[in-house]
Amino acid sequence: MKIAIRYYSKTGNTKKLADAISKAAGVPAETVDQPFTEPVDILFLGSSVYAAGVDDAVKKFIASLDGKKVKRVVNFSTAALLPSTYKQIKQLLEQRSIPLDEQEFHCRGSFKIMHKGRPNEEDLKAVQEFAHKLIGSAKE
Ligand SMILES: Cc1cc2nc3c(=O)[nH]c(=O)nc-3n(C[C@H](O)[C@H](O)[C@H](O)COP(=O)(O)O)c2cc1C
Repeated sequence: MKIAIRYYSKTGNTKKLADAISKAAGVPAETVDQPFTEPVDILFLGSSVYAAGVDDAVKKFIASLDGKKVKRVVNFSTAALLPSTYKQIKQLLEQRSIPLDEQEFHCRGSFKIMHKGRPNEEDLKAVQEFAHKLIGSAKE
C-alpha cells in the first residue's frame, strides 16, 4: 500500500504530528510544496487554523491534486481554539472529487500563552496509534 504525508505548519505544531505519523507509517513527512505524482492509497494531509481558515498553500496543494491518483485523504490538524480543519479540507477536496476519510486526528496546538507544549508526548502517541489503526484497517 502506498502512503504519503503532506503538511503545512507555520509554527511547527502540525509538523510534530506529521513527523509522528511518519514514524508510524514509515514514509517521510513532507511539506505541501512537495508535489507528488505517483498514485497513493492514503494521503495524510496536515493543516491548521490561521484567522479561522487554512493557509493558501494548503488550498493550492489540494487544487494541484490529481483525483485519479489519490484514493483517499486522511485529515490531521492542530488549532488553538477552533475545531479541526476537517470541514474546510472536505469542501476543498469535494471540488476535486477526492474522498476524505471520516476518521481524522485533531489536537490542540500551542499559540501564545495557550496550550503550552501541545502537541505533547501524549498527543504524539495518540496520533501514532491513530495512524497505525488506520493503515491496519486499510490493509484488511
Ligand atoms: C497567524 C496565526 C493565526 C491563528 N489563528 C487562529 C484562529 O483563528 N483560531 C484558532 O483556533 N487558532 C489560531 N491560531 C493558532 C494555531 O491554529 C495553532 O497554534 C496551531 O497549532 C498552529 O499550527 P502550526 O504550528 O502547525 O502552524 C493561529 C496561529 C497563528 C500563528
